[in-house]
Amino acid sequence: MDDLKLLVDLHMHGRRQGPGGDAETEQALNLAAVDRNSPLKAADIGCGTGASTLVLARLLNARITAVDFLQDFLDVLRENAESMGVADKISTLACSMDNLPFADEELDIIWSEGSIYNIGFEKGVSDWRRYLKVGGLLVASEITWLTDSPPPELRKHWDKDYPEIDMASAKIRVLEKHGYTPIGYFVLPEHCWLDEYYRPMQARFEDFLNRNGRSEESRAVVAAEQREIELYEAYKAHISYGVYIARKLECPAPWEI
Ligand SMILES: C[S@@+](CC[C@H](N)C(=O)[O-])C[C@H]1O[C@@H](n2cnc3c(N)ncnc32)[C@H](O)[C@@H]1O
Repeated sequence: MDDLKLLVDLHMHGRRQGPGGDAETEQALNLAAVDRNSPLKAADIGCGTGASTLVLARLLNARITAVDFLQDFLDVLRENAESMGVADKISTLACSMDNLPFADEELDIIWSEGSIYNIGFEKGVSDWRRYLKVGGLLVASEITWLTDSPPPELRKHWDKDYPEIDMASAKIRVLEKHGYTPIGYFVLPEHCWLDEYYRPMQARFEDFLNRNGRSEESRAVVAAEQREIELYEAYKAHISYGVYIARKLECPAPWEI
């Protein structure tokens, strides 16, 4: 089995494929002051098996397109949406986030938890802007330094994995540079990493290894995840996901044209 298939096999049985929490999804909605009654059109980009999509569907009067490039994850999302009675609010779309089919100014909300890094925060923020109505909301969580002097071991790991990692001030500057006004920011607390993501994943390691004949490749997948968990546990004061909430501005402003 190739590495991607192994990663899908490990992660599709999890509620989340990255750090987050239902309460934190709702916290972002509250900070964004989204009107829960008005009919909205939203996209959840890099939705995985849909932890955030299902919260949005439960809380909003919205039509939500749940986008991921892995059909296996979308199939799980669809089943969960049906059992929660919110399937009529969600359409799934297997598609890459750098080639989205939305029309200009089609969406009221773009949501993306733990996923925008796949094309890079700045590219996502800038490319996706055109799909939002003026005044529409972008809510994206992004790996973020909490201190300006992260320990060298941690910096080395993340600089290799994701060189765009930076502090919140730099991410907010990116939003401002690309025609958004930031309206909220908070840091995902530790339980979003440990209780919601890492501990459930660790509990699946044995079954995952057994399903895959304890192959060298499957053991390498577990070792890499375990290494990331140990780094987080050792250095969690320095790193988390920041949740960035921003509103699309009219740009250029009418008086600049
Ligand atoms: C860290 S997971 C986060 C999933 C989910 N939002 C959550 O918080 O549980 C990243 C997700 O992005 C998806 N992904 C990665 N690259 C992608 C791409 N180019 N286009 C669409 N989805 C992508 C992965 O399949 C995965 O579901």
